[in-house]
Amino acid sequence: MVQVIFLGPPGSGKGTQAARLSNVLQVPHISTGDILRTHVSQETDLGKQAKAYMNRGDLVPDQLILDMVQDRLSQPDAEGGWILDGFPRNVAQATFVEKEVLQNSEHHASGMEGNSALSIINLDVPDEILIERLLARGRTDDNEQTIRYRLQVYREQTAPLIQFYTERNQLSQINGNLSMDDVTSELTKVIA
Ligand code: AP5
Ligand code: MG
Repeated sequence: MVQVIFLGPPGSGKGTQAARLSNVLQVPHISTGDILRTHVSQETDLGKQAKAYMNRGDLVPDQLILDMVQDRLSQPDAEGGWILDGFPRNVAQATFVEKEVLQNSEHHASGMEGNSALSIINLDVPDEILIERLLARGRTDDNEQTIRYRLQVYREQTAPLIQFYTERNQLSQINGNLSMDDVTSELTKVIA
């Protein structure tokens, strides 16, 4: 059972590295941002509700996110582990992970003699590099105003999770301001 959680600001490489590790570790890459963008493009009820928040760079309300994540994690391909990218993103979501997700999987893994390995990783990258990377990428929410607001939302709501997981001795800090290959090799050392 491999369980990886990626924290890190917008543009830090969560999606890039999660996709690579998903191939190596053979567990699904679960990006809440990607799932939401699919809902937006398919114009589902959830997509219609989430769109304005995403365009502004605000977090989509927890009441919409938690069911979506629960549903994704209950699919058969997630039974053997997962890589979460962009979730949890505030203390309420982290509490949900502790109570609903990790306890269930401990339960699941209880016959497997401690085979469960959880890694919580923060990718650290300076703001000016983040802005440069995102402006070069150019997703619909990658304009300068929204990027700066996403960074503010990150500092206010997501960065407190660094302390949350540090206090629990669960956090690995990785320098995300290296080449993509070097970040991957640092990650492989922490997860192995
Ligand atoms: P989300 O899709 O999660 O976006 P984000 O957190 O802003 O992060 P990004 O996807 O922009 O960056 P990334 O860290 O994945 O970096 P990437 O690998 O792409 O969320 C979008 C929105 O959805 C949120 O604003 C919110 O509204 C909503 N949402 C999502 N989850 C939510 C939740 N849990 N609760 C509530 N709302 C939620 O890399 C960025 C660029 O840099 C790429 O072009 C890449 O090629 C390049 N790059 C990557 N690594 C390197 C490197 N080492 N060197 C040079 N370039 C690199
Ligand atoms: Mg991403």
